[in-house]
Amino acid sequence: MTTVLATAEVTPSWVQLVELVAAVCFILALKGLSSPKSARNGVLIGSLGALIAVVVTFFAGYELNNLVLILLAMVIGTAIGWPAARKVKMTAMPQLVALFNGAGGGAAALVATIEFLNLDGADEAKAVLIATVFTVLVGSVSFSGSVLTFAKLQELMTTRPVTIPAGRFITAGVAILSLALAVWLVVAPSTAILIALLVVSLVLGLLLVLPVGGADVPIVISLLNAFTGLSVAASGYVLGNVLLIVAGTLVGASGTLLTQEMARAMGRPLTNTLFGAFKAGVAKAAVGGGDRPVRSSTPDDVAIMLGYAQKVIIVPGYGLAVAQAQHTIRELVDLLNERNIEVDYAIHPVAGRMPGHMNVLLAEANVPYDQLKEMEEINPEFASTDVVLVVGANDVVNPAAKSDPSAPIYGMPILDVADAAQVVFLKRSMRPGFAGIENELLYDPKTTLLFGDAKDSLTKVVSAVKGL
Ligand code: TAP
Repeated sequence: MTTVLATAEVTPSWVQLVELVAAVCFILALKGLSSPKSARNGVLIGSLGALIAVVVTFFAGYELNNLVLILLAMVIGTAIGWPAARKVKMTAMPQLVALFNGAGGGAAALVATIEFLNLDGADEAKAVLIATVFTVLVGSVSFSGSVLTFAKLQELMTTRPVTIPAGRFITAGVAILSLALAVWLVVAPSTAILIALLVVSLVLGLLLVLPVGGADVPIVISLLNAFTGLSVAASGYVLGNVLLIVAGTLVGASGTLLTQEMARAMGRPLTNTLFGAFKAGVAKAAVGGGDRPVRSSTPDDVAIMLGYAQKVIIVPGYGLAVAQAQHTIRELVDLLNERNIEVDYAIHPVAGRMPGHMNVLLAEANVPYDQLKEMEEINPEFASTDVVLVVGANDVVNPAAKSDPSAPIYGMPILDVADAAQVVFLKRSMRPGFAGIENELLYDPKTTLLFGDAKDSLTKVVSAVKGL
């Protein structure tokens, strides 16, 4: 096995220079991704960096014993990844991210496993051995956790928290066991313990994700992303590949920061996200209809409410993305603006299915950025608002987050739409949102529902407003 130092000695300086260019590309990519305006360039620069990194690796002086197999793996990976990324719907992007993330963690764990099996015993530097074992553990957790997250997001299984009896103690026990096996493997390397560590780490990944439900899944994706970054960085140390160390560290650091930011936005510590379900028990399932009456309206009623309001707030959510109604909502807002009605969009940090989902969606329809208001900024505005139009959003306005300690979203800050004079929900049915729980606001006397696909409903409202 090669160490970083050994590789640095033999790596030609032109290769080091090219690697530096690729590393700078990764850093510039992150900078670009920090704003919607520069995000596209950020992606392109990051892709260029990755391409440079892959190509230069072939010329960096590594032994390429299995060139045919390597090229075959690249062809197969490209044949699967390219069309998958091109065809994926924007609403299914988190599932794809979860899968790609799992692939990264799994690949790092496999590389470390193979490197471990090639160890030449006592001569091996302990630091390399520790990095190898770390990669096996963290990469495996990230792999199985990401696959389970994919299953939840794809609704192949329930999106609600799954708790097992004494789950907290079992998870803690499995975590301790995996650490003990990792230490044992460093002290006395053996294939049997390696296999045991692989199995226990894979189980740990599943146990960590199972009790996470509803609104917290995005935070877990981000956490697993940070895990993958760390395992890739460690595998870079094992292989003596500086670029893997740089890229992995960047992913690990940005994933950790994003996890913290999202946990803060959800108003709760990370431990609560991971283990909260054990404490709260499983919340009431939504009835998905129920027998209680709700008020419903026609597009003409809604057009009158909006057309004679002074101040309107739009709350976009996942359903807006499903209906692809971003252009129609913009058309409606333009019409209302022409009537001198003040309109803003209220953006909740986890509305939709991925960070920044609503910003990206509305940017597609060229909605001016200054109309998009973050939650903290817009919440005081609801009390002076005549009509709130909730377009395909549910969890992000659900008062259970404040009032029901057993709810999976309890503690998450919400958009305070209940403070407005009137609330109109655009949705297709009485089905719940992602968290799978009832929304009391739907039954509030000030609420009315306009049933139907958001794009159809908005199109009808637009023509009714034009006729006012
Ligand atoms: P949700 O709570 O999932 O509610 C979406 C609503 O849209 C549902 O009430 C659904 O009702 C309606 N809908 C679906 N398709 C529609 C269509 N074609 N036309 C009209 N309505 C439609 O969405 P949200 O309020 O945006 O909250 C997001 C949730 O996803 C949170 O729980 C969040 O934690 C979770 N999540 C977020 C992310 C990130 S990072 N944003 C990632 C993963 C998960 P009907 O079925 O009755 O139409």
